[in-house]
Amino acid sequence: MDRKKTYDRTKVVDLTDDRGIEDLAMHLRDGEVIGFPTETVYGLGADAFSADSVKKIFAAKGRPSDNPLICHIADKDQIAECVREITPVAKKLIDAFMPGPVTVIMKKSDRIPSEVTAGLDTVGIRMPENLTARKFLAACKVPVAAPSANLSGSPSPTTAEHVMRDMDGYIYGIIDGGECTYGLESTVVDCTGEVPVILRPGAITPAAIRSLCGDVVMAGQLKEGETPMSPGMKYRHYAPKALVEIMKMPAKTVIINDEPGSEYEAAEDKSYLDFKKLDDDQKQDLVDIAAPFVFRIREILKDSPATRIGIFAGDEVCALIDKLGDKVISAHTETYAYGRAADVLAASHCLFDGLRHLDRQDVGIILAQGFEGEGLSRAYMNRLGKAAVKGGDIPEGVNYEEDRRGSELSDFKGTYTASVLFVCDDNKRLSIACEGIFTELIRWNAPYRLRQDKDIGCELYCESAGLKAYQDDKPDEEMVRSLAEVSKVNISSYRTRRTDPSVFDANDLIFTMRDEQAYEILRSFPELDGKVFSLSSYCAGKGLVFKSDDGRIASISIPDPKGENHATYLHTASALKAWLELIFPYVLKDLEIERC
Ligand code: TXA
Ligand code: MG
Repeated sequence: MDRKKTYDRTKVVDLTDDRGIEDLAMHLRDGEVIGFPTETVYGLGADAFSADSVKKIFAAKGRPSDNPLICHIADKDQIAECVREITPVAKKLIDAFMPGPVTVIMKKSDRIPSEVTAGLDTVGIRMPENLTARKFLAACKVPVAAPSANLSGSPSPTTAEHVMRDMDGYIYGIIDGGECTYGLESTVVDCTGEVPVILRPGAITPAAIRSLCGDVVMAGQLKEGETPMSPGMKYRHYAPKALVEIMKMPAKTVIINDEPGSEYEAAEDKSYLDFKKLDDDQKQDLVDIAAPFVFRIREILKDSPATRIGIFAGDEVCALIDKLGDKVISAHTETYAYGRAADVLAASHCLFDGLRHLDRQDVGIILAQGFEGEGLSRAYMNRLGKAAVKGGDIPEGVNYEEDRRGSELSDFKGTYTASVLFVCDDNKRLSIACEGIFTELIRWNAPYRLRQDKDIGCELYCESAGLKAYQDDKPDEEMVRSLAEVSKVNISSYRTRRTDPSVFDANDLIFTMRDEQAYEILRSFPELDGKVFSLSSYCAGKGLVFKSDDGRIASISIPDPKGENHATYLHTASALKAWLELIFPYVLKDLEIERC
């Protein structure tokens, strides 16, 4: 499916800006697509009565139009315009759970075009409880057809920033309403029959529906020959680029908020992190939750030492892994702590943000906390399970790498800078090539921010110099050519420089090509200890030690190709590229910055 940018920038309106919201509502009525917050996830809305407007949603999402959309309303009076009949079961759900995180499927009226329902004769109706959503939907004055505002196949957006990342330039505007309360999409309930059928689990749980209606069926337990009622199950969903593995929670763990009664609030009281205050049973519980993570991390790193692992787990679990003080584990893991380990509402609230965040850190695999409960846990496990499906189709035609790159999103409070230096002897081949390759990596992975203060952006730079270099000499022409061939990086305009104390001072990390060069620098400048590494000692310190088949440690030094033939130069250029790509994420971590 072709995706074409229609706007330079998507307009962002704050939730406090009533006039701005009115204006976006007016544009929606004029046929535009608008992103808006709800208590579940952000939606991508268009006038549900206009087939042409609705088609634009599919174009922006890169989504095939065989998946029906939900109609969002501000007032229960609008239901009558959209549906032909309200069954007794539907009425019960509407009275009890609307406004709220539920979608009720009923027979559609003639006013709803088939573009909305993908040709089905039913339509899903949802009345969000989020106040900004209500204000916007009221101003729209028409029912608003909206799927979640993510690029098809990727995790649903739970912040305006997520929507911008996927949709900037593809839709007219978006309302920034902050973080979504639940973070998982609504419970979809088919109410066309006598018994409600849950097509998609959500924050309105099976128990809540059963106690209201006496009975409830979970879809998915299909008999042979039956076709699934909710389409849209064809594609890999909620999927980050990384593989996802679910870590089982011990059966004895008492899950918190499995039947969410009230709105999510990040727990103020973090006393559960004070390990000294835990009694023996509590300590054991925590160890039992954390153990599967630690075992699995060790196992993965044993098999493939260069794997970077994302951890989506509770605060205590992340703190415990940190407390192990294992340098190799810490170099290879990116953690996202969602709140108290047993709190499924906290985990749900953070799940999609966590998957997106860990993906941005370029981990190869994500280990995510599982929950065994019957309520919200089901919704959480349903989404996590789909993210964890291996393989699966990614809808055709959407270039994920290209589409997810580089929109400048955040208004950073201030900008911090970090810089990396590459050093060799004459600065004509190895270090200058590193500068070229690393500059490209920096550009490709931008923007960055501080790990500790995510509002502060970071500019990352790199440079190169030589211990015995002349000033302003041209790089080795053969190196220029080989590098252009291997990586499209052009260093022909670069000039050589000699190292001096001010260059060392200006950089946060210094990489030499050979061990001797690092020793030489440290002998003259012992105060640089901790920031000077040869490429090979840096890798060894991270546990990036590669063994050949006979068990010997493979050497990772990169010899200077000076005077050698073209093939050797090419080989050197590819080797440098591979090494720098490998260390790039570790460098970010050491500089205490991350991709955003
Ligand atoms: O919380 C939510 O429901 C969010 C917010 C934006 O409201 N919306 C959302 O929309 O998640 P979407 O399009 O990403 O997912 C809607 C789900 C799909 O699985 C779709 O197949 C199902 O609801 N659905 C919609 N209309 C249906 C219908 N008439 N019959 C059966 N399933 C339907
Ligand atoms: Mg969706």
